[in-house]
Amino acid sequence: MGRYEELVELALEARTLAYAPYSKFKVGAALLGINGVVYKGCNVENASYPATNCAERTAIFGAVAEGQTEFEAIAIVGGKEAASELEFCAPCGVCRQVMREFCSPESFEIILAKSKSDYKVFTLEELLPMSFGPENLA
Ligand code: THU
Repeated sequence: MGRYEELVELALEARTLAYAPYSKFKVGAALLGINGVVYKGCNVENASYPATNCAERTAIFGAVAEGQTEFEAIAIVGGKEAASELEFCAPCGVCRQVMREFCSPESFEIILAKSKSDYKVFTLEELLPMSFGPENLA
């Protein structure tokens, strides 16, 4: 299995734990650290809607809390709980900006997948052009 397929499989696994009783839109993410470890995340909703955390940020914050702050790629899978197939689930603007804090715009890969055989790959730069990041404050 290629590394994209492996990450997609782990993102699908992560999605099974999504806590999305309000939107019923379940998302899973699998984030590959430069240490080779994969950090999984799911969306975690809240009765106070804005307190919800996206799958991507769950994965990134979990990794940072484990001491990993450099990453190579993330696979994201999402779709309505009741749907028979997934849709390409693009990361929200807040998650793109959080990626920008830790990931290289040119080389960090974002894999949007419907399945292990149906996915598209983007760089962070493609999804967040002309971005503001840590270098601006250095
Ligand atoms: N969501 C994610 O977890 N990641 C995305 O890329 C898009 C949206 C979640 C947040 C919320 O729980 C639900 O999907 C509907 O917005």
